[in-house]
Amino acid sequence: MLGKQTDYFRTVFWDSMNSREKSGSKRGDVIDNLLEIKNEEQKSDFKFEGDALVSQSAMFSVAGLETSATTTAFTLLELARNIEIQERVREEIKEKIKENGLTYESVQEMKYLHQTIAETLRLVPPAPILDRVALVDYKIPGTDIVIKKGTVIYTPLCGLHEDPKYFPNPQSYDPDRFSDERKKDIVPCTYMPFGDGPRICIGQRLALLQVAVGLITILKDFEISLNPIYKNEVDPRAIFVNPRS
Ligand code: HEM
Repeated sequence: MLGKQTDYFRTVFWDSMNSREKSGSKRGDVIDNLLEIKNEEQKSDFKFEGDALVSQSAMFSVAGLETSATTTAFTLLELARNIEIQERVREEIKEKIKENGLTYESVQEMKYLHQTIAETLRLVPPAPILDRVALVDYKIPGTDIVIKKGTVIYTPLCGLHEDPKYFPNPQSYDPDRFSDERKKDIVPCTYMPFGDGPRICIGQRLALLQVAVGLITILKDFEISLNPIYKNEVDPRAIFVNPRS
């Protein structure tokens, strides 16, 4: 899947494991801790051959890097289009940094900033399709429709996130949809930028943190405006949503 870049991931992964070994944390211990392997008998159940571990770490990069970058970029785009919202976000950022410095806690207190990120994820969910396979025959309540065992189900998030039944005036960028007063109106499973259920995005909290920190770093010092040549097009060939380059 990663083609020539596979070697890059191999190098980053094993360099990191080897440097841990050198710094006193044995490579074997790291792996044992990762998998909570407690005794030799259990250990023989796990064989790390080839790229089994490398591929796990590569998956985190694939799933976590572009998605967070896209969210940051599209939030900046919306803030460039909506100057009043941009000003409100900046004021909040400056106020919270003035009160407590730039700490994990102060980032969490930037409520309006998080509302803007949530609203970007509604309009531009970077991973826009959720996929599942039916494990049993399932009759959709109130209909005659039966989803047969083994059927692949795709849930297109843009359709849900832009349905006026659930999000009135869906095309308008309105972070206050996610205010404390209004977010209770959101119907469960109509807003799922990180998926839902047991396979919900495992990196959700890290994603929100790194997007917030990226935006804070830029917005505290810079005003964002639209580049006049930008056409606002999404690349139709991309699996993850991306601006057309
Ligand atoms: C804004 C950023 C992100 C978005 C929008 C996003 C979105 C998603 C979505 C929609 C899924 C599928 C969930 C489902 O089917 O119910 C998913 C799965 C996953 N994400 Fe994220 N993600 C983001 C960031 C991250 C980060 C930062 C990491 C890791 C560092 C990560 C790692 C993963 C992994 C490993 C899965 C598969 C989980 C599983 O199948 O159990 N994601 N993500």
